[in-house]
Amino acid sequence: MKGLILSGGFGTRLRPLTYTGAKQLIPIANKPIIFYGIESLVRVGIKDIGIVVGDTRDEVMSVVGDGANWNINIEYIPQESPLGLAHAIKVAREFLGNEPFMMYLGDNILKDSLDELVKQFKENHPNALILLTEVDNPQEFGVAEVDGKGNVKKLVEKPKEPPSNLALVGIYLFDNEIHKAIEHIKPSWRNELEITDAIQWLLDNGYRVESQTVKGWWKDTGKPEDIIEANLLILQDIKPDNKGEVVDSTLNGHVVVEKGAVIEKSIIRGPAIIGQNSRLSKAYVGPFSSIGANVTIENSEVECSVIMDGATIRNLENRIDRSILGRNVVINQINESPRTHKFILGDQSYVQIIK
Ligand code: DAU
Repeated sequence: MKGLILSGGFGTRLRPLTYTGAKQLIPIANKPIIFYGIESLVRVGIKDIGIVVGDTRDEVMSVVGDGANWNINIEYIPQESPLGLAHAIKVAREFLGNEPFMMYLGDNILKDSLDELVKQFKENHPNALILLTEVDNPQEFGVAEVDGKGNVKKLVEKPKEPPSNLALVGIYLFDNEIHKAIEHIKPSWRNELEITDAIQWLLDNGYRVESQTVKGWWKDTGKPEDIIEANLLILQDIKPDNKGEVVDSTLNGHVVVEKGAVIEKSIIRGPAIIGQNSRLSKAYVGPFSSIGANVTIENSEVECSVIMDGATIRNLENRIDRSILGRNVVINQINESPRTHKFILGDQSYVQIIK
């Protein structure tokens, strides 16, 4: 079985972070989101993975590489423009050949292993196997209508009036009939070849579509609050490991300190991760925080946040909470008169000051 990971698209809902980088490379517990997908595929024995890439192709290729890190083969498949999930399968036709494959959306993170999904596919040989989960906001996803026995009856993409609260998780298993289905569908109102329409075509034409329900948590990291939430969920299971230098400081709970990090006169309350070569002095880092590499935090407090590589936070009076700071961001409080704010913020940056 081959793997197909989708890492194209624009990531508009994650601006400004996605002006300078791919959304699939945003770090969750200091690891790019797409790595979680690759590792899930590797764990079920998939050794041949195609990654569909768009404008951020060079960056994705340089971070992910050729698969040697995981002892697998990774090939890159360019998609000229994000014309839909089914379109991504179309451009990967040559790579996929006639083999069955698992498609994994590069911005999804799933806690469960994919073993059960692969087992059902191998035992029952459906033409498509989809993964479903209950959500509070089904209008933001593909939604399935399922009968009392769990058989899929109908699929709709981002419906205004959802037929159920069962969202399609971005992980799918297909045999080669999906290519025939994609040949028969037309672009949707948003000009995308929708995978939901292709699966609906299979249903309408007598092919077998099965479903499975997610047991653990699942996150589509499409929006900033999803990044904070995914970070929190991943950190919940982190194992303590200290490879740095900790001086006159307290580490509570599960804390990972990476190589070269120096923590002095600080309090770290886990679960939290402090990245390579970061320097924390008179800092408080609270639960569910991921501090990237080469970050400086002095005389300041951070909690439940994602602070990316190279950021600097100095002398902040108030705690930073549920925030995302991109690479090399600087936040510095200077206690001098006149008491003004000075900002150099990229398009669509967001600042909230509570006095
Ligand atoms: O996350 C689950 C949802 O993913 C499903 O419930 C929906 O049925 C499915 O359509 C999809 O919806 P999204 O709106 O979240 O898809 P998004 O545009 O964010 O794309 C998902 C991933 O696929 C993302 O990593 C970008 C990549 N992509 C997307 C498109 C449209 C491509 O590589 N090429 C594309 O043409």
